[in-house]
Amino acid sequence: MSEVRVLGVAGSLRKASFNRALLRAAIKLAPEGMAITPHDLDAVPLYNADVEAQGDPPGVAAFKDAIRGADAVLFVTPEYNHGVPGVMKNAVDWASRPARSSPLDHKPLGVIGASPGMTGTARSQSQLRQAFVFTNSYCMPQPEILVARAQDKFDANGNLTDETTKQFLQQYLVAFKAWALRFKPA
Ligand code: FNR
Repeated sequence: MSEVRVLGVAGSLRKASFNRALLRAAIKLAPEGMAITPHDLDAVPLYNADVEAQGDPPGVAAFKDAIRGADAVLFVTPEYNHGVPGVMKNAVDWASRPARSSPLDHKPLGVIGASPGMTGTARSQSQLRQAFVFTNSYCMPQPEILVARAQDKFDANGNLTDETTKQFLQQYLVAFKAWALRFKPA
């Protein structure tokens, strides 16, 4: 039984996604006592308050249950047009409901990301962190993981091959385990 159960959420639906690949690398590199379970966002529909008023759709209920059941959530975000892609933001919007008693309320979170660009999702990570202020979540401030020029860091099969990035990710996950444990009831 792992000490820390982490839900891993990548904000891309495409098979060859760098962010899904980064999440797979995190699963492999997680320290002892930390288990990361991925949760795909394919089944989360577009947010609609009318639909929500009838009850959460199955894909949303499953996502919210998975967050509730985890000690912490690791969000792995791409960046589109200097911001958080709709797939990720939409999932966060569903999970943020109802405000003040949502699954994200008081939840320890981490945000990392990868992109082919030079800034490695700096702006989308920043935006996501802002959203997590409103959700009253505990987003780990440091360290940060910004995987720039992702095409040079993964092989054709989506394996993380860059040794420096692997080391950073390992250090990040050790810090994230400690962060999650701070908020886990004894
Ligand atoms: C991008 N991309 C991109 N990258 C970046 O670093 N900053 C950006 O602002 C944008 N903008 C952007 C807009 C749109 C509409 C697309 C489709 C793409 C490139 C993006 O990072 C790249 O497609 C990644 O591979 C997406 O992440 P996944 O799917 O590989 O996880």
